[in-house]
Amino acid sequence: MSGEDCDYLFKAVLVGDAAVGKSNLLWRIAGGEFRLDSKPTIGVEFAYRDVKVGGSLVKAQLWDTAGQERFRAITSSYYRGALGALLVYDITRQATFDSATKWLREMRQFGSGEMVIILVGNKSDLQHAREVPAEDGRRLAEQEGLCFMETSALTNSNVEDAFMAMVTRIL
Ligand code: GTP
Ligand code: MG
Repeated sequence: MSGEDCDYLFKAVLVGDAAVGKSNLLWRIAGGEFRLDSKPTIGVEFAYRDVKVGGSLVKAQLWDTAGQERFRAITSSYYRGALGALLVYDITRQATFDSATKWLREMRQFGSGEMVIILVGNKSDLQHAREVPAEDGRRLAEQEGLCFMETSALTNSNVEDAFMAMVTRIL
């Protein structure tokens, strides 16, 4: 499906600290496999995902950049035109959750006020190592008017749901 023969084409971005699992979520959404040995992202990567919603053919263009500051692409161009975002933290590292408010500030500074943001607590397969209670994620999402979900890119749990929650709120 090219840009011409789908009904909607939209851009969405992945945001969050280094190593929270943004790239693995991206690969899952795009239909790929989990990568245990994934390298930190440098610059920007893209993937596309076609999805049928109701009677419409939708193409999502997903942008993924580095969590590490020194590898990040220019911030304003990253957010430009984005209608959706997955704001990702790692449920086994409290610091990545604490950063979520910093990321939100950046998203609201550079992104559109209309951008649909889904707060994603990733690595839900690592329950024994959990540092962030699900309740904390839920509370932050409620305060900030976001949708919240916990996912595992490893087991592919809830990944599709998080993506679809974003898609259906954009359309
Ligand atoms: P940067 O590109 O540096 O910002 O990192 P990233 O957010 O893209 O993280 P990436 O997807 O590269 O994953 C980082 C590490 O976490 C890798 O070792 C992954 O295998 C691991 N990982 C990602 N998602 C999950 C998950 O859901 N569960 C578990 N157990 N590990 C995960
Ligand atoms: Mg990455």
